[in-house]
Amino acid sequence: MRFDILTILPGMFDGPFRESIIKRAIDRGLIEIGIHNIRDFATDRHRSTDDYPYGGGAGMVMLSGPIFAAAEHAIAEADALRPHPRRSIILTTPQGRLLNQRIVEELATLDHLVIVCGHYEGVDERVQEHLATDEISIGDYVLTGGEIPAMVIVDAVSRLVPGVVGQPASLAEESLTSGLLEYPHYTRPAEFRGWTVPEILLSGNHAAIARWRRQQALRRTWERRPDLLATAPLTPADRRFLEELRAESAPRSMAPSASRVTDGDAER
Ligand code: ADE
Repeated sequence: MRFDILTILPGMFDGPFRESIIKRAIDRGLIEIGIHNIRDFATDRHRSTDDYPYGGGAGMVMLSGPIFAAAEHAIAEADALRPHPRRSIILTTPQGRLLNQRIVEELATLDHLVIVCGHYEGVDERVQEHLATDEISIGDYVLTGGEIPAMVIVDAVSRLVPGVVGQPASLAEESLTSGLLEYPHYTRPAEFRGWTVPEILLSGNHAAIARWRRQQALRRTWERRPDLLATAPLTPADRRFLEELRAESAPRSMAPSASRVTDGDAER
């Protein structure tokens, strides 16, 4: 998998790609990352990358010329190494499709991601219309620029490149790959400040542990992200367990009870 990032702030990428899993993936030749300074493709003597908006208004707009030139350069350079038949040119923008694990998986099937880091009020519309093949937002909030979104995309996609993350099992089980949030994890000690690890995890009963973990994942998802349950693949046992959760939380019968007498008219 090759990534080429087009940015006006190349220095921002010095840290994140020189540490840990991404660094190791680069060193092992599993992924390649090219960083390109859009300013190097500016054509005026000030090396401008932005200009005032036609029609007036606040802020600056990124020029299309240097972005097209940088993208064409990055693509030619990448294809000189080997052809990349499955390429996407992504513009990072809060207006893009909202990134999730399904989209990450889709991007991981490609072999070349060119990521244009947007800035200022925006990017000349001709970049969206005639260069970008995809637009991605990493969340419904506005950042100062597209560099951090580019890092997020590279990180999330790289993890799915075979060999980048140690154990494929950890990928299969983790949050969201299964369509659910993950079950809770514990490691030693078995008791910490009086808080103990759930007994079942110490039992050695693998089937019971697997069932407990699945139910914890279902419970967490139901409590925190019920929207995910609509699309998660669920077994009949999962559905029965969710029914139990719903029944547990459903309001009890409306008959007056000792605990209800304190509210409303019953007091008067
Ligand atoms: N640029 C600014 N904010 C962004 C966001 N949330 N996602 C992608 N690109 C952005």
